[in-house]
Amino acid sequence: MKRTYFPGITDIVVVTDPAEIRTISNDSRFDREFIGHGPVRNVQLLRKMLRIFSLNGRRFPPMLPRTSPGRAAAQDELWAKLHREADAVKSGPAKLEPLAEWVRGIGTAEQIDLLVQQSIGRLFVETFTATEESLAAAHMVLEAASSSNVLKMLWWRISGSLERAKTLLGSMVNGELAGAIAMITGRQLIVDGLHKMRELAADPALRSSITTDAAVNECLFSPVTVVRQATTSGEVGGCPFRKGSLFMLGLRSASKGAANRDLVFLSQSWSRCPAEKWVPALLEGVWTRVSATSHE
Ligand code: HEM
Repeated sequence: MKRTYFPGITDIVVVTDPAEIRTISNDSRFDREFIGHGPVRNVQLLRKMLRIFSLNGRRFPPMLPRTSPGRAAAQDELWAKLHREADAVKSGPAKLEPLAEWVRGIGTAEQIDLLVQQSIGRLFVETFTATEESLAAAHMVLEAASSSNVLKMLWWRISGSLERAKTLLGSMVNGELAGAIAMITGRQLIVDGLHKMRELAADPALRSSITTDAAVNECLFSPVTVVRQATTSGEVGGCPFRKGSLFMLGLRSASKGAANRDLVFLSQSWSRCPAEKWVPALLEGVWTRVSATSHE
């Protein structure tokens, strides 16, 4: 791990080693309390993250501290529900046909984005229909999290566009913030996966030779990083840290090897993703339909 530390200015540790990521994600000295004092850069980063990933003062679930009241119970409940859904989509039921058709090469990038957002929305509200507005709202929040265009971001803030975008998404899933965040970040990861799947499907030799598990694996993308903050001072893996130090866990690169695929959803951590079964099952279902038509 690599720490950048200038007292009062910045204190950020980048962690890329898979074993160290597992250690930190399970060590109770690192959490998501996200206290807003400390070095200037840390405070700036946290304020921005929390402003973007909360709605009306409520943080989106992936921003909540481990012991936040109700967090773990909600996570377990959603995990159980998505586990049941996973069984229902794994075999490639007819409702996945629009996704499969797109993977076979028919349709635009916007169409798959809408379809994926709709599939996620329907986990929360059966009649959910994704619209151009709901898609634009999700893209706006995602862009706000990564953009360095200060003027544009300032305008989105003062005009209230960003709050309106999140309010729209929240209202479409009855205020369930897990649904809103999934339509923003989870959607993008699944869409990226289906673009990859379209590439695989476009190669006839590959399409008929690759195993389903291998195809699904190729199409699973983890978040690039997740963030933890030290709740106390100490040392980890030879790296000293102070209360408030930020740890950037580089999941995207660390999860690449076959032995580290648990990091895609942080499956061995208290913060494991409730969709860890559903997402691979959805990809499997879509691939099953696509590969079944490969000899036509
Ligand atoms: C490819 C798709 C997805 C990937 C790779 C992914 C990955 C992750 C990861 C790594 C975390 C842990 C964050 C942390 O430790 O700070 C997480 C948390 C979470 N994810 Fe996902 N996710 C995906 C899609 C989804 C979807 C579709 C849903 C909901 C339907 C969802 C709901 C959540 C929730 C609610 C949490 C917070 C859990 C908690 O700490 O209480 N995710 N996800």
